[in-house]
Amino acid sequence: MSINDYINQINQGNCIEVLRNFEADIIDLTVTSPPYDDLRNYKGFVFPFEDIAKELYRVTKPGGVVVWVVADATIEGSETGTSFKQALYFKEIGFNLHDTMIFRKRNPIPQIYRKRYNNEFEFMFVFSKGVVKTHNPIMIDCLHAGLELNGTTYKNYSKNEQSRVQIAKPVKAKKISGNIWEYVVGKKLEDQEAKGHPAPFPCDLVRDHIFSWTNVGDIVLDPMCGSGTTCKVASELDRKYIGIDISHEYCELARERIKIVESQMRISLPGKN
Ligand SMILES: C[S@@+](CC[C@H](N)C(=O)[O-])C[C@H]1O[C@@H](n2cnc3c(N)ncnc32)[C@H](O)[C@@H]1O
Repeated sequence: MSINDYINQINQGNCIEVLRNFEADIIDLTVTSPPYDDLRNYKGFVFPFEDIAKELYRVTKPGGVVVWVVADATIEGSETGTSFKQALYFKEIGFNLHDTMIFRKRNPIPQIYRKRYNNEFEFMFVFSKGVVKTHNPIMIDCLHAGLELNGTTYKNYSKNEQSRVQIAKPVKAKKISGNIWEYVVGKKLEDQEAKGHPAPFPCDLVRDHIFSWTNVGDIVLDPMCGSGTTCKVASELDRKYIGIDISHEYCELARERIKIVESQMRISLPGKN
């Protein structure tokens, strides 16, 4: 089988076995979330993390990116730290830890009080194979746009260059977004389509990553695609997608969601149906 047999398909199988059929250096972006710390029981499927991480490195293009969305369970009063261990393992096998981003939930599920604050975020580790090749930054409004501020500076975080530089006057209208991204979970209509899955991504989270790290026509992978959010959004944004999930039921759900997007796209492109 060639890679073309997997493109724009939801492929049912164990991702470690499916990925081994791919050539090296072909994926522009992976956006995925592993089953973490048995927080949710995905029908008892095994999860060989280290083998999967190595396969992801092999199939990622030089300059390509892997976004790994993960959080930790709390077991006997202590967070497991699995997220950090996984991030360090990705570094060990050759990825750059390009950015540690935060997915903040605007409507976190209330927790039973156990002498701790309510958990309201997950990590979005952004790994790159070498220097990132594509970054289309999301821009946001500057709070002080147009003002002539004194004493405000840019900070340079590079090694040996912890200097501050005077910023442009007046303050520009737009700036690059920060690395804490906030989303409402499970309320938008497009997110509710995924309600047959216990842990779908918000579509907007995936949209922001695909926009940031790829261009039209690039290949986007989700090796544990669940309800197919990554693939659905990739298709909508004119990227190619490859989805893999071990569960027949979730693959069917993903295919249904993509069918909805593709039929909407046909309606908005007259003459294409
Ligand atoms: C956190 S969920 C992903 C949810 C997804 N991001 C979405 O938007 O719906 C993790 C998924 O990994 C799948 N999975 C677990 N082990 C797997 C494996 N070895 N190969 C492929 N998929 C696996 C589960 O079936 C589950 O759907």
